[in-house]
Amino acid sequence: MPGNIQTSQIKILLLGFGGIGIRHATVLLKKYESFLAIVDPCIQEERLKQIAEYKGRYEIFSSMEKINDVHEYDLAVIACNTHYHHDVLIELSSKKFTGKILVEKPLSAYPDKLKDLSFGSNQVMINYCRRYHVPYQRIKEHYKDSPDSIKSIVIACGCGGFFMLVSHYLDLISYITGDFSIYPVYSNLKQLAYENVRGSDFKDFAGTVLFQSQKSDLRIFVDCSNDLGIPPHLRFQGGKEVIEFSEVDGLLTFYKRGDNVMNEPLSRYIHPLLKTDGDIDEIKLPFLLEKAYEDLMGSFSIGCTWEQGLTNVNIMLQALPLQEHKDLILA
Ligand SMILES: NC(=O)c1ccc[n+]([C@@H]2O[C@H](COP(=O)([O-])OP(=O)(O)OC[C@H]3O[C@@H](n4cnc5c(N)ncnc54)[C@H](O)[C@@H]3O)[C@@H](O)[C@H]2O)c1
Repeated sequence: MPGNIQTSQIKILLLGFGGIGIRHATVLLKKYESFLAIVDPCIQEERLKQIAEYKGRYEIFSSMEKINDVHEYDLAVIACNTHYHHDVLIELSSKKFTGKILVEKPLSAYPDKLKDLSFGSNQVMINYCRRYHVPYQRIKEHYKDSPDSIKSIVIACGCGGFFMLVSHYLDLISYITGDFSIYPVYSNLKQLAYENVRGSDFKDFAGTVLFQSQKSDLRIFVDCSNDLGIPPHLRFQGGKEVIEFSEVDGLLTFYKRGDNVMNEPLSRYIHPLLKTDGDIDEIKLPFLLEKAYEDLMGSFSIGCTWEQGLTNVNIMLQALPLQEHKDLILA
């Protein structure tokens, strides 16, 4: 079983150098004494300019085939389009790659192709990086003695990427509650995704239950109440307490609502669990990636495992009409 990675002069295969790949590259080059083999059939020069200051610490390849020996690498990061994740994972598996693997969420659009792959336990982590938001970890701690009391509400109005949101939230909810028995109740998520793209406020879907737990009262449903003046994206309700999150432009805001504060200005009631020691910028994506790498380079303890990632993607796909699976865009 792979243990901690020796991070001095770590060698990394970065498979996919698009919007998210460049963010991985920047964090890895900045944070570690790393050497990167960047693999992408369609490299954009603009993106290379963003890492020009690290010249000499990376090399570009158009395919994994062009790399002499993948076994020289300690870590593979899969950041290509979701549709190709399985190809890359299958190639790494057939080459008997033994390093660690960080695969972008939501793992795969074709989980069936992956179910027979075997990687060592603790070798693969799915980059559900929102788990690394400090407040989500605090809320897990907060509810640790009563995870069954949580009721969760997901809504998607006011932000792009419906599937991205749902997949992250399914991960967060199962991470926080430890509940992997969630199953889809609503069988046309695609419709909600279309509504989201059209800018719908989801009023017609208010109360629609999307997912439900088999072992508790936990339900994930569309909520359109906007009485706090912000679109609440995720709401945890444990006992009488309701804690709301709103993620706008990558920033997470965390509110507590109780009977006595319903009509008061929000800013006065930022939940204490939101407070971090540093600046609010700490919770932007690069910070989350840094945290994910810290976890992965050690023996990861918070990260999403292969099994959890497969469960999550299967839950999502079950909620889509069959014919939609093949062209599903899991952003
Ligand atoms: N964790 C997060 O919060 C988060 C956020 C955004 C995107 N993502 C995930 O990141 C992944 C990439 O998203 P993106 O927005 O960067 O996409 P993108 O389209 O900007 O980039 C994908 C890149 O992969 C390359 N590519 C395609 N096939 C390849 C292959 N076989 N080998 C190597 N490279 C290949 C493409 O040429 C392209 O440059 C997706 O799975 C997405 O779900 C995760």
